[in-house]
Amino acid sequence: MAPKDGQPFRLGILASRNGSNLQAILDRCLSDEISACVSVVISNNSKSGALRRAKDVGIPTFHLSGWTHPEPDRLDGEMARVLQDHGVDLVVLAGYMKKLGPVLLQAYPNRILNVHPALLPAFGGQGMYGMQVHRAVIESGVKVTGVTVHLADSEYDQGLILAQEVISVHPADTPEGLAKRVLKLEHRLLPVVIQRFAAGQFETVH
Ligand code: GRF
Repeated sequence: MAPKDGQPFRLGILASRNGSNLQAILDRCLSDEISACVSVVISNNSKSGALRRAKDVGIPTFHLSGWTHPEPDRLDGEMARVLQDHGVDLVVLAGYMKKLGPVLLQAYPNRILNVHPALLPAFGGQGMYGMQVHRAVIESGVKVTGVTVHLADSEYDQGLILAQEVISVHPADTPEGLAKRVLKLEHRLLPVVIQRFAAGQFETVH
């Protein structure tokens, strides 16, 4: 997907939590390391830091969840509609904790990225989020962990892997300490992959 003439490349961010990955993306858009803009932020969590950060800089925000839309089909359709209404070219799951519905997936084929705080396919899937991931990594005794950016599909943490970055697990690492080091890496790698999309370098991903 090459940038459209004269049009900014538009990102739609889905985030459930603090929004530090969203912040990293916003900062890179401001510094022009990402040639794109964030058009809309959606969260399933009305109290998320992600929604607050977006509101603070005047980006349209939407709280869309099982609370606002109890029927999964309606929620799925509404999420796709909001993203399309905002002209979104690429959807980024930046700490988004819910599965995606078929309407949204069909609206953005191979145009939905997810970031995962481990080296998939290891330490992924249902229940593998937040501190559980880092606890499992340490308990397993592996010597390396890292970050994966991949295309999202209807399952948790599956889909084509686009980029990974590795760091060492130290003998003295705690889950909390490891989480901090991995998060820093997420903030670096996710924007790099987004910029590749914005520059049209993933034209052939299908
Ligand atoms: C990140 O570790 C992300 O990989 C995971 O949830 C965390 C979200 O962090 N899925 P933040 O909300 O971007 O600060």
